[in-house]
Amino acid sequence: MSVDLRTRYLGLELPHPIVASASPLTGSIDSLKRLQAAGVAAVVLPSLFEEQIVHDEMAAHHLMLQGADLSPEAHGFFPEMQNFPTGPDAYLALIGDAKKALSVPVIASLNGCTPGGWTGIARKIEDAGADAIELNVYFLAASVDDTSAAVEQRYIELVESVAKQVRIPVAVKVPPYFSAMANMASRLSNAGASGLVLFNRFLQPDIDLEELDVAPHLVLSTSDELRLALRWIAILRGRVGASLAATGGAHTADDVTKLLLAGADCVMLASSLLIKGPAHITTLVSGLQAWMTERDYVSVAQLKGSLSQQSCPDPSAFERANYMKTLKSYTSEFV
Ligand SMILES: Cc1cc2nc3c(=O)[nH]c(=O)nc-3n(C[C@H](O)[C@H](O)[C@H](O)COP(=O)(O)O)c2cc1C
Repeated sequence: MSVDLRTRYLGLELPHPIVASASPLTGSIDSLKRLQAAGVAAVVLPSLFEEQIVHDEMAAHHLMLQGADLSPEAHGFFPEMQNFPTGPDAYLALIGDAKKALSVPVIASLNGCTPGGWTGIARKIEDAGADAIELNVYFLAASVDDTSAAVEQRYIELVESVAKQVRIPVAVKVPPYFSAMANMASRLSNAGASGLVLFNRFLQPDIDLEELDVAPHLVLSTSDELRLALRWIAILRGRVGASLAATGGAHTADDVTKLLLAGADCVMLASSLLIKGPAHITTLVSGLQAWMTERDYVSVAQLKGSLSQQSCPDPSAFERANYMKTLKSYTSEFV
C-alpha cells in the first residue's frame, strides 16, 4: 500500500514534511542542489541579519555625504538613495539563483529584533522570487527595564511590519521563553504570521576556564531537545490559524514521526543534516514511510496531530499534571 506523505506548510504543497532549516548547508547553490537531489521538500536559506542591512545602508549614506562634501555639484553625481545598491545584494542574488536552480520552495530568512526601516527588505526578498519569508526575531530581553508586555509588543510589531509589505506568506521563528506561549502564538498568528517555527535556538555563551573569557559556543542539537517543540506543537495544534513547523532536535525518522503525531505540518533539520549530510533526508523519508505502512496509516494528513493535546487520550500529559508523577517515578541506584 502506498502512503501519501504530502503536507501543506504556509500554503505551500510539499511532497513530504522534511525541510532543510537555515544553516550553512542552505547557503550555497551547490549544497542547495545536493539537498534537492536528496529529496528535500523545501529549503530555508540562512538568515539575512538586520545588522547587515542597516550597516549597508549606513555605509552607502556615509559615502554619499562624503562625496557631497567634496563639492556642491558632486551631489548630483550620486544616485538617489532608493536607487543606490544599499541592500544586501548578495542575499537577494542567492534567492534569485536558488529559485533558478531548484524546483522546491525557497524560503528566505530575515533575522532582526528592532522595529524599523530595515524590514523594508521584505519586499525586495519577495521580488527576488522567495516563496515565503521566515522572520527570526532574535531578541534577548537583558535590560531590567524590558517588560514582558513590551517584548511581546516588539514581536507583534515586527511581524505586522514584515507581513504588510509582502503577499508571500511570512512565518515567525520564535523562542520558547514567553510566559504565555499559547497566547503569544495566537497573537502572532493574528498579526499576520502564516506559520510558526518552534523554536528558535539561542546560542548560549560559555566560559572558557583557560582564557577566562566568555565565548558563544555552537553546539549541534541531539534528539533530547525534541520534546520542547513536541509539547508546544501538541498544545497549539488546532488552536492557532498559523501552520506549525518544528525545529530543534529532529535527527531520526522516529523524531520526525513524533513531531507529526503532535501536529507539526513540517519538520525542519539543521544539525542532523550537518552531521550526516543531505543523503540523510532519504533515510528519514523512508523511515517515516515504513513506520506508517506498518501501522496502516494511509497519509501524513491522517497522522498529523493525531496525538495533539486535543486528540490524545490524556491531554494533561502535555501540561503540568504528569510532572509530579514523573518526578516521583524516578529511580536511581542511589535513592
Ligand atoms: C551552523 C548553524 C547555522 C545556523 N544559521 C541559522 C540562521 O542563519 N538563521 C536561523 O534562523 N537559524 C539558523 N540556525 C538554526 C537552525 O536553523 C535550527 O533552527 C536549529 O539548529 C535547531 O535545529 P536542529 O536541531 O535541526 O539543528 C543555524 C544552526 C546552525 C547549527
